[in-house]
Amino acid sequence: MPSSTLSVTDNRTGKTYEVPIQDGTVRAMDFRKIKTSDDDFGLMLYDPAFTNTASCRSNITFIDGDRGILEYRGYPIEQLAESCTFLEVAYLILFGELPTAPELDDWVYEITHHTMLHENTKKFMEGFRYDAPPMSMLISTVAALSAVYPDATHVQDPANRMLQIKRLIAKMPTIAAMSYRHSLGFPYVYPDNDLSYTENFMNMLWKMVEPKYAANPVLARALEVLFILHADHEQNCSSSVMRAAGSSRSNPYLCVASAASALSGPLHGGANEEVIRMLDEIDSEAAIPAYIESVKAGKRKLMGFGHRVYKSFDPRARLIKEIAHKVFGVTGSNPKLDIALKLEQIALQDDYFVSRKLYPNVDFYSGLIYQAIGFKPEMFTVLFAIPRTVGWLTQWQEMISDPEQKISRPRQIYTGARQRPLPPIAKRESAASGA
Ligand code: SDX
Repeated sequence: MPSSTLSVTDNRTGKTYEVPIQDGTVRAMDFRKIKTSDDDFGLMLYDPAFTNTASCRSNITFIDGDRGILEYRGYPIEQLAESCTFLEVAYLILFGELPTAPELDDWVYEITHHTMLHENTKKFMEGFRYDAPPMSMLISTVAALSAVYPDATHVQDPANRMLQIKRLIAKMPTIAAMSYRHSLGFPYVYPDNDLSYTENFMNMLWKMVEPKYAANPVLARALEVLFILHADHEQNCSSSVMRAAGSSRSNPYLCVASAASALSGPLHGGANEEVIRMLDEIDSEAAIPAYIESVKAGKRKLMGFGHRVYKSFDPRARLIKEIAHKVFGVTGSNPKLDIALKLEQIALQDDYFVSRKLYPNVDFYSGLIYQAIGFKPEMFTVLFAIPRTVGWLTQWQEMISDPEQKISRPRQIYTGARQRPLPPIAKRESAASGA
């Protein structure tokens, strides 16, 4: 029976080392013993952007990038999107099992009764310019909640963690809606406890003077399924930031603000907004070939395409495409959809994209739906952050409870100067001249 080990020979010394293989990985620390002398630090593994590094053990989300598979706690995303509510899926992701009816009722009650924000938050929100990006307002306000709940720093207390988790899941839509209303100069709308999570979000966004907001059921369900599809995605950029920030045991509100900051980048959660801008720039199907050529020339990226893990289709993109048709049946089609469909068709016939295994990802079609429902592009990443808060907090919980984890602190390969003599200021030459 072949042993599950690597035999590594260091040709600098002729020594051979046996390195155990477990779960398809080797432990980086097992290479530290490979030295050329006793005062040698030992070997490290170099992996910029962690393209081939497992940072943790996790049983939350499974992705098979080659087969286009995504499962939350072992349940295929297609089944969850078809049959569950968002809070039902949030419960599954957080606690590892689907809730019974009484458990779900209790969970919905808990979240519903944490949606209010301290009235001071209004004054905080008023500090932003009328045209402040909603994502910036969301991130800042979430961070500010660490001052409202300073007790949240007791992260070693499971009950305290769960209280903050409920508060954050419940308050993200309220903060998001306030950011949106602020940008329009509209008065804020208080939560309505009679409504579901998603309908209440729509209520806080769009209720005007009518006595009770009534959400369009097709649009409410479409938004809920989009929330389900965006809830977690294993060790993506923003979840990794959540884990790293949480590893120093900082306040969870500050950790979520850190994760949302990472999500806001155009290569990550900000891509859905960039896709709409890209489709606006292309503007007609006739302009697609020239745009594709500019992408292949390396002048720009095809936003909404490509993925670090999915090297075939992103299953979420396929489900979102189905939602698009239902939404457009209510709102009327978004003229940009035809350009997006043609762009996908042309790209997937072009070897540049096929050879690099670039397929539409979750962001390629989601923006078209958000826009049709009535959101401005500046709100799209906010709509990603709301459901992903469940994933960030679950990853945070798992990290804190994992005995193998400690403060996140990678090493480096130092390439700079050493032991330089300090010249008096009169004898220094400007580095800019040599820049
Ligand atoms: C999300 O990680 C997650 O799970 C993220 C996410 C989640 O749910 O959390 O799924 C959400 O962030 C989806 C991705 C949204 N971002 C975009 O749509 C932006 C456009 N996509 C690219 O920036 C890129 O595809 C990434 C960032 C998504 C992935 O980058 P990688 O894995 O580092 O891939 P790479 O940059 O090494 O690309 C490999 C090759 C390169 O070409 P060569 O150097 O080999 O010639 O493919 C090219 C890249 O230039 N390439 C693209 C491209 N994406 C990669 N070329 C044109 N357009 C693109 N979109």
